[in-house]
Order: sequence, then structure tokens, then C-alpha cells
Amino acid sequence: MENYKLSTGNVDEIRLDTLNSIYNPYSQRFIEKHLFNYHLPTSLLDIGCGHGHMTCYFAKQLVDVGRVTGQDNSESQILIAINRAKVQNLRNTAFEIGDISKPSSSVVKFSCTYSRFLLMHLSNKLEAISNTANLLDEDGISIFEEPCLSSQFCHPYFPEFYRANELTIQLGKASRLSYDSAVSLLEDISKFYYIDAIEISQPILDTSIKKQIILDSFLQIAPALINSRLTDDFEVKEITSKLSEFVLADSSFSGGLRVFHIKARLKNYRGLVGS
Ligand SMILES: C[S@@+](CC[C@H](N)C(=O)[O-])C[C@H]1O[C@@H](n2cnc3c(N)ncnc32)[C@H](O)[C@@H]1O
Repeated sequence: MENYKLSTGNVDEIRLDTLNSIYNPYSQRFIEKHLFNYHLPTSLLDIGCGHGHMTCYFAKQLVDVGRVTGQDNSESQILIAINRAKVQNLRNTAFEIGDISKPSSSVVKFSCTYSRFLLMHLSNKLEAISNTANLLDEDGISIFEEPCLSSQFCHPYFPEFYRANELTIQLGKASRLSYDSAVSLLEDISKFYYIDAIEISQPILDTSIKKQIILDSFLQIAPALINSRLTDDFEVKEITSKLSEFVLADSSFSGGLRVFHIKARLKNYRGLVGS
């Protein structure tokens, strides 16, 4: 869990709700066009499911057709996800604690795996992709959705916006993570999969509620930035104050995360074992 720099559980509820309201329409458009248009999976694993927003979306789409499992390595995330499915009376869901960095001992395979904003938080991406592939039926489909942080921009120009983004990328690098990994990710995924479809999306954050996610994300990683000596209290306060101004300014907007949506199928399932 030490690589995950953001908060978990109740502390991250509002930010993850906002994140889902911004990014779900783009994810769902990709999934409907490239997955559901072809077939409905009978079993789907949402890896790093967070608070289960997308898990519940899948469960609703697959009622009477398939079962959906949400997996996360954080118990506090899973508890919120369980509650979300319960409130919506979704009976075709299950949730489990699991770490995708480690090989699974389970023999259960899924006809589809899904992960969003997960691999960016892992230093051992290749193992995680290999472990994902090993959880898939031979003819199954994996969907990966990962961002490129360097594509963010804002208007009007606030240097602190770019500084916060640069600090975030540096924090990742200091922990052997790449928050800007979408391009190298294609190479990593191709070691195990054929890429069947790819699209790129980038929402515009143009309301205070949407822009607030930038400030909230920065505040969550600020202690790690200071601990890593990438910045100090003084600069954090300065950035926080300017980002607050940016969030509240009527006419300001920014680009959200540029997201790579990738649909992939296994190259050679048996070839993975022991290779
Ligand atoms: C940025 S959140 C995204 C949550 C969700 N996929 C979404 O898009 O709303 C990343 C999630 O991955 C989980 N996570 C981090 N490392 C993990 C690991 N090694 N195995 C499984 N989940 C992990 C975190 O606990 C967190 O809930």
C-alpha cells in the first residue's frame, strides 16, 4: 500500500465521486462501443475498484447475464464499494480484498477484467499486467484505462497549476511510479496482449466542483511531497492558495486527465505461465 499516495476510505469519498462523475461518461462510451457491442461478459473483475462506482455500473449492465467482482487492496475502499452495491440492491456483485501486484492463488478466471487509474500507482506494472492476464479466460478481454498527466493545461495561466502537476509527476518518479505512463504502457500491455481497440479522451474541468478535484488531489499528496523533500510547507501553502483562486474563478478551466482507453485480448495465454 506504500506506493498509493492518495487517501482511501471515507476521506476520499467526495473526490472519488467527483472523479467518477467526470470520467465515467468517457469510460462507459468506450466500454459500450468496444465491449458490450460485441458481447456481454459472463464474469467481470474490476481490479482496483476503489469505491465501486464502475463495478456497480457493470453490475447494472450485466444483470441476468453476468457476475461482477470488485477487487481492491484497501479494506476501507472495499467497505464503501460493498455499501454502494447494497444501496442499489445489486445482487450480481461480490467484493474482495486483493493485491494485483501479487500472483493470485485462485483458479477462478474471468471473461473480462477492467482497471482504471490503477497501473499508474504500481511500481511493478509488468507483474500486475501479467497477473491480470493470468486471471483471464483464454478468450477473455481486458480493458485498461490509464492517464497521461503531462497533458494537463489550464486557462487562464496559473503557474501554480503547472507546478502542482510537475510535483505530482516528480513524486511518482521518486517512488518508481509513472503517473505519465500511458505510452510505455502500450509496450507493457503488448508483451501479453494484442491491442484490439484504443481511444483517447480528455474532459474539460469547467465548474468549481470539477476543478476542486485538482486541489483535493494536491492536498492529499502534499504530505508525501514534503516527506520526499520535493517541496516545503511554504510552497504547499502558496500553491494551495493559488489553486483555490483558480477553482473559484468563474471563467477558469483546465484539461482533466488525458486517458488512454485500451481493449486487449490475450496473445498466448499458455505462453505466460512460467515465462
Ligand atoms: C485512483 S483509485 C481508482 C479507483 C477506481 N478504479 C475508479 O476509477 O474510480 C485507485 C485504486 O486502486 C487501489 N489499489 C492501489 N494499489 C493496488 C493494488 N496493488 N492492488 C489492488 N488495488 C490497488 C487503491 O486502493 C484505489 O482504490
